[in-house]
Amino acid sequence: MTLVLKINKKKPEEEKLRRAADVIKRGGLVAFPTETVYGLGADAYNPEAVRRIYAVKGRPGDNPLIVHIADPATLDSLVRFVPHEARTLCERFWPGPLTLVFDRREELPPEVSAGLSTVAVRMPANPIALGLIRAAGTPLVAPSANLSSRPSPTRAGHVLEDLGGLIDLIIDGGKTAIGMESTVVDFTAGPPRILRPGAVTAQDIAAAIGSLASGGELSPGGKPKAPGMKYRHYAPRTRLVLMEGKNFQEDIRKLIDQSGKDKQVAVIAFHKESRYEDCLLIQAGFSSRTVARRLFDIFRDLDSRGVDLIIAEPYPATDGLDSMIWDRLKKAAGSGN
Ligand code: TXA
Ligand code: MG
Repeated sequence: MTLVLKINKKKPEEEKLRRAADVIKRGGLVAFPTETVYGLGADAYNPEAVRRIYAVKGRPGDNPLIVHIADPATLDSLVRFVPHEARTLCERFWPGPLTLVFDRREELPPEVSAGLSTVAVRMPANPIALGLIRAAGTPLVAPSANLSSRPSPTRAGHVLEDLGGLIDLIIDGGKTAIGMESTVVDFTAGPPRILRPGAVTAQDIAAAIGSLASGGELSPGGKPKAPGMKYRHYAPRTRLVLMEGKNFQEDIRKLIDQSGKDKQVAVIAFHKESRYEDCLLIQAGFSSRTVARRLFDIFRDLDSRGVDLIIAEPYPATDGLDSMIWDRLKKAAGSGN
């Protein structure tokens, strides 16, 4: 049985946070909102609870978890060494959508980082998330609260859809503010490097610390540094084709024609002037903030409508959030890593 508990997102009720924290302390799993997406939380120091997270999500055992903290000072109890530039990023962007990877301390159960010698840490900017971590009195591991490979949940209803009956509690704190997962930056090998683009952009980071290795996601040998990168991700169940190139509108029209009258095609558009016939046209929004907030919800909605094919327009270059949106679109189309 999964209980759903509504909590006020601006002023979380102490008594409700305590109830949720009790579940965590007993080794249970609690889904909670962060400013990015909903996370599935467990006590980071309880190996059994951490293993249960992998099991309920159907998550591959080699894909490590992010540890969530409510006070920057907790970082030093989790990791061996925090470089100066990383401290600067914590001061500048925590609490917020930024995850940093460091060499880990032995005390953390190995399950947290899927056996790696490193650990990813972030301090979320959401009063419910922070209140829950504080009330539990322990850092929480929290992957996105979806079944593995499905779009990350941006509302409590999405969590219930994927994990209802499998976890102990879902905190309903409304829609998440950003709608896509945090930026992940690796500090364990040479200059800091972005492993996953998020709402703290490469420009933001470069402005704060100057040095940032270019290239990002893949190491030179083609081995993904963030193990999660090699899996198809964030994906609707329906096939999604991401149209690229200058003539995308023409190409999309051709693809709609080719798919035949008996097939329902949905087009996710990012350009105001886009018009397509014989399809379900979804305008995803005209600012990257809006698109980020809505995209995963649109994926889930199209799945539930039972469309046969989803075509997405290429995402236009905007304000730095475009790399995050492109990354999620590519992964959903199976063309990421
Ligand atoms: O915004 C977020 O980060 C959300 C909310 C709930 O905080 N969490 C989230 O967790 O997206 P998850 O597990 O869905 O994605 C974590 C990503 C994966 O790509 C994983 O491979 C990478 O972070 N990661 C975790 N630990 C790592 C490590 N030690 N080294 C490299 N990458 C790591
Ligand atoms: Mg995830």
